[in-house]
Amino acid sequence: MSINQSPAGAPFPPSGAPLPKVTMPALGEMKRQGKPISALTAYDYPTARLVDEAGVDLILIGDSLAMVVLGHGNTLAVTVDEMLHHTRAVRRAVRRALVVADMPFGSYHGAIADAVANAVRFVKEAGAEAVKIEGPRVELVRAITEAEIPVIGHLGLTPQSVNRLGGYRVQARTADAVLELQADAFALVRAGAGAIVLEGVPREAAGQITAALSVPTIGIGAGPDCNGQILVFHDLVNLTFAPPAKFVRHYADASALFRSAIERYREDVEHRAFPSDAESYHLPARMATGAAGRQATGVPAVGADFDSDEAVVNRDAFEDWAN
Ligand code: KIV
Repeated sequence: MSINQSPAGAPFPPSGAPLPKVTMPALGEMKRQGKPISALTAYDYPTARLVDEAGVDLILIGDSLAMVVLGHGNTLAVTVDEMLHHTRAVRRAVRRALVVADMPFGSYHGAIADAVANAVRFVKEAGAEAVKIEGPRVELVRAITEAEIPVIGHLGLTPQSVNRLGGYRVQARTADAVLELQADAFALVRAGAGAIVLEGVPREAAGQITAALSVPTIGIGAGPDCNGQILVFHDLVNLTFAPPAKFVRHYADASALFRSAIERYREDVEHRAFPSDAESYHLPARMATGAAGRQATGVPAVGADFDSDEAVVNRDAFEDWAN
């Protein structure tokens, strides 16, 4: 398989023109050039492929996976092995975007050496190009960076701290808290963080920190003055079954689209309107022995006189049969 082929065999990218790979230094360059960074989460092959082919710069396999894909009430339950599984699927889809894996709760809260070993797994076993870590864990960010793994920090509303914070609340709402947030951001950057996600903070605080930092900020619920924006894919397309947060914009209604498709399918099955004869495989003509039962009833019977050369299948199991 060539580099331009997906595992499923379709060409990558659709236009055929390879785009330059996004790297962590490239994000810094985008900040210097004043070019906004687009980022989205993805957790599987098809959505990651769509996001990458749409030209989004950064794809995060977020631990929001726990909520929007696995149905948990918060992000705490997802494991390293589950995150690795989804990171591999995304990796197989992506050619251009920077692939960033979120370190899940518990994977970096013990000894630094254990946390570095977990970060290495995301690169070695799943092909991540950077990891994201919540909170001002300065020594850890230094250690992971020294292990040659780019790190994105995540400050403000850090969902893994939900129990300590007492809920998902906007952070940095006082002057002191803004100063503390800014000091944390500086410390992470000095330790090697290549970008900082700012989540759930007032626009003014995010703007001030963005202007002061040498690396890009990527905002979610942090206003338009960050260097980039990130959203959860399922929020973008309304597939979360929950009222949207203030900062979410639905760019499509996948719930309505999928619901209608599923209901129409069920109705067609119930009314025997799916599948049609044209959507059916037929026995080969050389096996035909009888008269035109199909013409009489519209339903081919074994032994009826009908042609089967139309059968086009691409699965090995069917090939012998079809030939
Ligand atoms: O897990 C996640 O999806 C995230 C972002 C949205 C920043 O951490």
